[in-house]
Amino acid sequence: MHSSIYILVLFAVTLTTAQSTMCPETVLDGVYSFVINSTSPLGPINLMYVQHDAFRGLPFATTTLHNELNQLTTYNRLDDFRRYDCPDIWGYQTVCENTYNMTVEQREKSNRTAFDRGHITPANPYRFSVDALSSTFYCINIAPQDPWTNQNPWVTVESRAQRHFAADAGYVMTGICDRDDVWSPTYIGYKVPACYWKLICYVDPRGDTQVVGFIGNNTLLKYCSGCDVEEKAQRVIDTTTVRDQREILNEIDSNRVSFVLEAWVGAESYLLVNRNENRVPRATDCWSRMTAPQEVKDEWNTVMRADVLAHEYTEEMDLDLIQKMWQER
Ligand SMILES: *[C@@H]1O[C@H](CO)[C@@H](O)[C@H](O)[C@H]1NC(C)=O
Ligand SMILES: *[C@@H]1O[C@H](CO)[C@@H](O)[C@H](O)[C@H]1NC(C)=O
Ligand SMILES: *[C@@H]1O[C@H](CO)[C@@H](O)[C@H](O)[C@H]1NC(C)=O
Ligand SMILES: *[C@@H]1O[C@H](CO)[C@@H](O)[C@H](O)[C@H]1NC(C)=O
Repeated sequence: MHSSIYILVLFAVTLTTAQSTMCPETVLDGVYSFVINSTSPLGPINLMYVQHDAFRGLPFATTTLHNELNQLTTYNRLDDFRRYDCPDIWGYQTVCENTYNMTVEQREKSNRTAFDRGHITPANPYRFSVDALSSTFYCINIAPQDPWTNQNPWVTVESRAQRHFAADAGYVMTGICDRDDVWSPTYIGYKVPACYWKLICYVDPRGDTQVVGFIGNNTLLKYCSGCDVEEKAQRVIDTTTVRDQREILNEIDSNRVSFVLEAWVGAESYLLVNRNENRVPRATDCWSRMTAPQEVKDEWNTVMRADVLAHEYTEEMDLDLIQKMWQER
């Protein structure tokens, strides 16, 4: 562990002094790390810190800085899914300009014909500029996602992560779990991750850095009214329950857990440029908060439960059952 952290520190320093980060220059264990920039009302900014897993042909994680800028809704979503045009990784992404067609068995299970092209970093917080929004549609930020979870509880998680920073600043890191799901692969052979995860790091009003996380189980559920009601209620509860950073790391291969540290450091090294932002936590503090205090989790869970009840579900949802299951926890 110590030697790998030492290597990571050297690695981060190398990255900080790199001239160009638009195309990956550094690769470690098949993971390419680089920054995507964009225009913004503040001028040019660094939009997201990307770690792309070429071995798996999927993202590892993308990390962003959130604040008031991410609340703007100037431009509307335009689906321009496309590969990220850098030679080293061109062939190691999913071809997400096409839909993620399902096998016959997956179609039967889900009552859909394709996995969602699930955003890692979502599109909605990037409506402040056309190219920022468009950059979230690069295939290095997309993976096959269970449609029902993506359109229901994962929306709740994403929108809370955004609104948490309505008048504050911090980092949001989103990734996919290392395990492949029981329904993997897609018809064409792309790996389907067993889950999505998100980590949110911020400084609370008392000046303490906090990290909370979420895990979205990515196993297919059925799209249909009134079926698998209990399984869906369970999915909603599991996805919107606040987790410790430690629990997220448990979803990542132990040899690759250090990439989460690298992402906190990468975010700090790059994403503050032109943001005029002094409210963000230190990367090392984000990494050190492996468990969140119970009162912080209670606070978040209260907010999440209200969001769960307010969400507009894609089909009929048994909210009474969800409330009953909360009470039994
Ligand atoms: C993004 O970076 C590239 C390469 O360094 C540069 O040519 C381009 O002008 C930058 N774009 C913005 C919006 O900063
Ligand atoms: C999509 O998958 C189905 C099997 O579920 C297959 O029959 C069909 O040919 C596939 N379509 C494409 C365009 O690959
Ligand atoms: C994910 O969801 C499936 C289907 O609801 C369930 O069988 C499985 O146990 C869940 N996985 C985890 C880790 O909770
Ligand atoms: C599958 O979804 C469609 C809507 O997309 C719905 O009309 C149909 O009833 C669903 N099938 C089943 C078996 O529930």
